Amino acid sequence: MTRLGIVLSGRGSNFLAIAAQIEQGNLPAEIAVVISNRPDAEGLAAARKRGLQALSLPSKGLDREEYDRRLEAALREHQVDWVILAGYMRILSAGFIRAFPQRILNIHPSLLPAFPGLDAQHQAFAYGVKIAGCTVHFVDEQLDHGPIVLQAAVAVEDGDTAETLAARILQQEHRIYSEALRRLFTRPWRIVDRRVELGE
Ligand code: GRF
Repeated sequence: MTRLGIVLSGRGSNFLAIAAQIEQGNLPAEIAVVISNRPDAEGLAAARKRGLQALSLPSKGLDREEYDRRLEAALREHQVDWVILAGYMRILSAGFIRAFPQRILNIHPSLLPAFPGLDAQHQAFAYGVKIAGCTVHFVDEQLDHGPIVLQAAVAVEDGDTAETLAARILQQEHRIYSEALRRLFTRPWRIVDRRVELGE
């Protein structure tokens, strides 16, 4: 069974959506460990409540390379096959990314390459786009940049605020993260240049 290491910093709703799909038998994987750099992350408490391995690995006071070495060691200790970023609010070092080649995924609340970085839903709303959305992508050494696995579009409606839009984008995030994992775990795939090609 494919072993997932979930890495998060906050609320953890994407993690919980993935956990629910696994529990319902819709995603052939298991959660080996949930790690948070913030001890008080809601996602960590939710993981404990579900009886999952939940690890607080505070980043305070450590430089990026040192922290990432500890993160890598913890993930290896739990023998994870894939690193699933789910609201992890830190940039990963090149060393960490090279340690898990083509095995780190992230979800970002915009249709990349539009609006990388923080508060993507607010950025999109303020820009005035009519179509927003979210993206599941491989993580490479540039922020919110790696090859795209799956995207979903969300129409901006009259009367939306950045918050109502973000809430609808989040619903799509919950759907496509598990769907992206399901495709990668159950079908052959390869990355050609930066295109993710799925086989049957
Ligand atoms: C999501 O909007 C995700 O796209 C972004 O961070 C947020 C995490 O939310 N990377 P949650 O912790 O999964 O609820």
